[in-house]
Amino acid sequence: MFSKFINRSKSILLKKQCLTSYRYSSIISVHRDTKEDNQNMPFEFDSENKKRAEEIIKKYPPQYKKGAVMPLLDLGQRQLGFTSISVMNYVAKYLDMPPMRVYEVATFYTMYNRHPMGKYNLQVCTTTPCQLCGSDGIMKAITDYLKIKPGQTTKDKLFTLQEVECLGACVNAPMIAINDDYHEDLTAEATVDLLKQLQEGKELTSIGPVLNKRESCEPFSGRKVLLNKEPTDIRKFTRSDL
Ligand code: FES
Repeated sequence: MFSKFINRSKSILLKKQCLTSYRYSSIISVHRDTKEDNQNMPFEFDSENKKRAEEIIKKYPPQYKKGAVMPLLDLGQRQLGFTSISVMNYVAKYLDMPPMRVYEVATFYTMYNRHPMGKYNLQVCTTTPCQLCGSDGIMKAITDYLKIKPGQTTKDKLFTLQEVECLGACVNAPMIAINDDYHEDLTAEATVDLLKQLQEGKELTSIGPVLNKRESCEPFSGRKVLLNKEPTDIRKFTRSDL
């Protein structure tokens, strides 16, 4: 009786595994020495970034300058193109931190890319609101068009594709982020059109809602509140000495 139960559970599990499609939400942050990412690769901030780093560090009390670890890692990533082990070690030295503390930060936050990236980092949100509004179609359109899966980079090093959790623009779902900009209210066709523009070397001008011409996240039928052009003068409602 018991073995019958075990066999039945096993067959349900197997069926489930066959039905479940595995999704790689992002690129795994485990360091393995490679040709382009190992401790022997030299890295230091260029003169511009050294100035920026000093400005950032000044915002923190001297005994807490390690608080600048995130913006400094970001500077390093923008300069090199990804957060290599040398970037992390350099930032650790710059801030007098144990390297392990920097590794912990860089591998916790998905904004730090631990592998060489394409010129354009495509982050497709597939969390519930985006999924309900068609993010599966957006992902399919991108994978079909670029012939890559999440976590991969195109051969011409132009695009890296990532499947990510909510990027905080749910009201304008479905959406993708391309480098630092959001493209929202998308369809599969509009997404491929964005990729084609980038392949042609064009600058994307349609940042924010791509279709429907929403200005921001107002209803599709137009604004219902805050209709005054001029912002309300708050001093009308507060004490004059405030
Ligand atoms: S669910 Fe996609 S931006 Fe929030």
